Amino acid sequence: MSKVTQISHPLIQHKLSIIRSKDTGSKDFRELVEEVAMLMAYEVTRDLPVEEVEIETPICRTKSKMLSGKKVAIVPILRAGLGMVGGMVKLIPAAKIGHIGLYRNEETLQPVEYFCKLPQDIEEREVIVTDPMLATGGSAIDAITLLKKRGAKNIRLMCLIGAPEGIKAVTEAHQDVDVYIGAIDEKLNEKGYIVPGLGDAGDRLFGTK
Ligand code: PRP
Ligand code: URA
Repeated sequence: MSKVTQISHPLIQHKLSIIRSKDTGSKDFRELVEEVAMLMAYEVTRDLPVEEVEIETPICRTKSKMLSGKKVAIVPILRAGLGMVGGMVKLIPAAKIGHIGLYRNEETLQPVEYFCKLPQDIEEREVIVTDPMLATGGSAIDAITLLKKRGAKNIRLMCLIGAPEGIKAVTEAHQDVDVYIGAIDEKLNEKGYIVPGLGDAGDRLFGTK
């Protein structure tokens, strides 16, 4: 069964409130999405394995811990997931980055795939899929299905805001994928937007509306 972790650190709650406000412009929106993603990355990577290594400080030799085992891949769902990458690579600079392009057909709300480019050793990596919004869950479900078809085995999903409908759908469709979320909102409206949400994440990030 998937584990759903809400990361409700006060800094994340505070920044999410500013992100949600319709008065926040693209510049601040972009910066804050990146900051929240960085804060969330700290929690999402909490269980990465470490190994003991020997290092030499200016004082003496000592044993210390460093990340070991699988390397990380960050896979944003285009477009809006891109806005989370900058913050995450500040914490995980060695991560490789894949891209999956999906957009929702505004009438059917079904995701349409238009791009996929992944690190070639994706099957050996711990994959973190990023998308600010988990609405019906259709985009996340398809992105994860695509990743699995390309061989990815260890996948986690990280979103800023989720609707209960989307969380249920993705955790039922991919029971081996843990979900990390900054806020769980009330519901979806008749157009498939999250309520209260933040509006259209892609448009707000890139100033396209
Ligand atoms: C948004 C968002 C998710 C998707 C969520 O992208 O970034 O990818 O909708 O909706 P769902 O859970 O119902 O699938 P959108 O399709 O608007 O594309 P964009 O990022 O290019 O604007
Ligand atoms: N995509 C968005 O960008 N916002 C929503 O509320 C739902 C889907």
